Amino acid sequence: MIPLPVDLSDFETPCYVINETLLRKNLGLLRQVKEAAGVDLLMAFKAFSNWGVFPIFKEYGFGASASSPNEARLAFEELGVKAHTYCPAYEEKSIAEVLIYSSHISFNSIEQWQRYGKQAEQNGVSVGLRVNPEHSDTACDLYNPCKPGSRFGITAGPLEGRGLPEGVQGLHFHTLFEADSFALERLLAVFLRKFGRFLPRLKWVNMGGGHGITQKGYDAHHLITVLADFRKSHGVEVILEPGSAFTYQTGYLVSTVLDIVENQGIKTAILDVSFTCHMPDCLEMPYKPVISGATDERSGKPTYRMGGISCLAGDSMGNWSFDRELKSGDRIVFEDMIHYTTVKTTMFNGVRHPSIALWNEKSGLRLIREFGYEDYRSRLS
Ligand SMILES: Cc1ncc(COP(=O)(O)O)c(C=O)c1O
Repeated sequence: MIPLPVDLSDFETPCYVINETLLRKNLGLLRQVKEAAGVDLLMAFKAFSNWGVFPIFKEYGFGASASSPNEARLAFEELGVKAHTYCPAYEEKSIAEVLIYSSHISFNSIEQWQRYGKQAEQNGVSVGLRVNPEHSDTACDLYNPCKPGSRFGITAGPLEGRGLPEGVQGLHFHTLFEADSFALERLLAVFLRKFGRFLPRLKWVNMGGGHGITQKGYDAHHLITVLADFRKSHGVEVILEPGSAFTYQTGYLVSTVLDIVENQGIKTAILDVSFTCHMPDCLEMPYKPVISGATDERSGKPTYRMGGISCLAGDSMGNWSFDRELKSGDRIVFEDMIHYTTVKTTMFNGVRHPSIALWNEKSGLRLIREFGYEDYRSRLS
């Protein structure tokens, strides 16, 4: 990833820094795909929803995909669009709000459709069903919505010998994870085999997220061909709702070494950030993030485990090697820390929440949001 182009001694940590140049590069590529394929591209709020930078997103004309009443409202109020909303289950107390802020709604089961489908239609919201093609290339169970016993979507079995319920205008599926366009092509073949007979009476098909469109080596031309072919062959509006692809490789989490401790020959740099609070996917997936200027462990080089500031025993990861010994006050820059971070952070242990900043060449670093004691306190009672 392109290194953070600022003097790190200049600003306070911890801080998430969004690189506007890298962000615009992703947004530009996604807009090209959207226009060339003639599809609707929605930004899945679950991956990133820092509305302080939505003015940049607005320039590119994307829609929004929401998975809760709050995300739908945020889409409407801050991005100025009605959301395409999908929730595993809607609730009586919030369905009216969801319908106000949504243009499309997908139901996870026939039971949910029976409960709220008519109300959605009466409010002018286009109704869809989430289906489960029971096909995913995802090796990681945590991100596999098609694993046996999955709670997501209606499988082909219960629909056998039946038509779709009256009023249903679209089908939605989400089974990919950081996938290429060839994985989508394989998925579409399965989808068509299982649900293709419903397409002639549908208006739209939402192909979910998990499209790694902005990753290095992704074949965007192939994706455009696959999407345009599908759209033309079946006469439906095609919708994609990637999350990660929008903010993939667009920024950093900058932290400071507070102390170095040693136990049984293992040196740990204690940081002012936490894996569990600020980089949860590292522990959940798990994966080892890239640190600027460091490598995987190399013998003969100063090597450290990174220790989080929370008291969770597992809030640490190892090991990275550096060109020189680390000391208190050194900056540690975790790369690619903008998607699925700020939307998932916690204030567990009351740890300080990193600020959020935007960097661009013209204005330098601009602080968008700082967090303090009141943010911590106000959530607790
Ligand atoms: C229904 C749905 N749509 C879209 C996404 C976004 O996926 P990604 O960020 O992998 O593109 C997700 C992620 O979990 C999802 O569950």
